[in-house]
Amino acid sequence: MNSKTGQFNKPQADLTENIRILKQKKNAIILAHFYQVPEIQDIADFVGDSLGLAQKAATSNADMIVFAGVHFMAETAKILNPATKVVLPDLKAGCSLADSCPKDSFTAFKEKYPDHLVISYINCSADIKTMSDLICTSGNAVELVESFPKNEKIIFAPDKNLGGYINRITGRNMVLWDGSCEVHDVLSTEAIIQMKIDHPDAKLIAHPECKAPVLELADYIGSTTAMLNYTMNDDAKKYIVATETGILHQMSKNSPDKEFLIVPTDETCSCNDCPYMKLNTLEKLYLCMENEQPEIKLSAEVISMAEKPIRRMLDLSKKLNLIK
Ligand code: 13P
Ligand code: SF4
Repeated sequence: MNSKTGQFNKPQADLTENIRILKQKKNAIILAHFYQVPEIQDIADFVGDSLGLAQKAATSNADMIVFAGVHFMAETAKILNPATKVVLPDLKAGCSLADSCPKDSFTAFKEKYPDHLVISYINCSADIKTMSDLICTSGNAVELVESFPKNEKIIFAPDKNLGGYINRITGRNMVLWDGSCEVHDVLSTEAIIQMKIDHPDAKLIAHPECKAPVLELADYIGSTTAMLNYTMNDDAKKYIVATETGILHQMSKNSPDKEFLIVPTDETCSCNDCPYMKLNTLEKLYLCMENEQPEIKLSAEVISMAEKPIRRMLDLSKKLNLIK
């Protein structure tokens, strides 16, 4: 880094090489979410969805987990592997969905439903996890909710879109916290309808964080990993993809003969990058490995309370054959 200009001097090839050297020297593992920029995905030891990343973090025996994702994901890694140092390239890489559910308001909300079980989507803070009975991800939410009796009273937080989707397809009436993701919430239904007219041979695949009108139009709904697998195993040649742009990197890599069209937002912008995921850059990744910070720190109490519902999710997912 040039101290006068604040600019990073290393070209990308050097950075990549230096990250590889640091990885070996520090016995570090790089875990990256599908929404990271391609150059980070390409240097990661594992690229996955929230569920896959949590599993990898839980079983890692590296000395340092470098989490190329957002804050709640790095927190989850720390909770599942507290003895290991967890670093995040940019501590400001938060999540609008997690931020939509502050601890104090959720405490008051929960008090209104004392006989309800709390199932929280993993996109929430460690504090919300401590107040939850079970955590789920977009990769297992429907099955985990369905593992409870139909008459079980449930609060689902913080994503009203995912919760509403589960309510619709399971016929349940879970009480929903009023939160959503600022990226998925603004994907344009009008643009999708036009894209379907322009590309009648394309299938629409959508993340369950999208709002109901988008999900109603979808041929397939699933987590980022599920969508990726779908495009690899399905025989269509063209897909309209309703989620964050980062996933296109693995889709194109795994199916180079297929075409992927990203759904634009209904704002003026034609791209839908998650501004938090995209705070991480190759430069910041290198620096956080070199300096071993910013580091994720949580109190022992929070770790022990938040671990229970996450472990419950992993155990139940195994029991239900959703993961190995
Ligand atoms: P996944 O569960 O597919 O990783 O989704 C996480 C996320 O943040 C989507 O916005
Ligand atoms: Fe959070 Fe949405 Fe970004 Fe996912 S895409 S990390 S839910 S803000």
